[in-house]
Amino acid sequence: MRALLIAGGLLAMFSAVGAAIAQPDVINARREGLRGMGREMEAMKAIADSRGDPRPAAARIEQMTAFFQTFPTRFPEGSGTPTGREPGQTGALPAVWSDNGGFQRAAANMVTQLGALRVAATAGDPAGFATAFQQTGATCGACHRAYRAR
Ligand code: HEC
Repeated sequence: MRALLIAGGLLAMFSAVGAAIAQPDVINARREGLRGMGREMEAMKAIADSRGDPRPAAARIEQMTAFFQTFPTRFPEGSGTPTGREPGQTGALPAVWSDNGGFQRAAANMVTQLGALRVAATAGDPAGFATAFQQTGATCGACHRAYRAR
């Protein structure tokens, strides 16, 4: 009986902890998502460099757009420390929170630029796609310069 009570108490404790936001999970999830964005960009770079048919890239671009539309919600208050590159650590600079308006604008710029990339992709225009792809990479970089640790 006593053991059962203790087990019950522990269970209640764990679910309370689970209800609080587990910051390392938030950090790991957004970093994993961003690595996915890197892989999408690699795949599209191959198309841009070879001036291939960009139409198959449209589905990738839609996935990326969905990711960046909710991007700022992946940075809840308190998920900014410790800074580092180990699992559970973050490379996000404090500016994400201290200049949150600018961070949100950088995410919105990303969504706008992905819209332009998608237009070039669905138009099946290899040269236009290559140009828009380059601008897309620059838009990733613009946010990284201000909000990501080097
Ligand atoms: C609005 C800002 C913003 C935009 C836009 C953005 N990033 Fe990032 N990126 C960040 C931040 C902040 C981090 C650090 C996240 C962390 O460590 O918690 C990051 C980290 C990364 C990482 C490292 C993930 C890891 O394993 O630590 C990759 C890869 C990455 N971004 C790729 C991209 C690509 C590709 C694009 C463009 C398609 C992009 N990002 C656009 C803000 C942005």
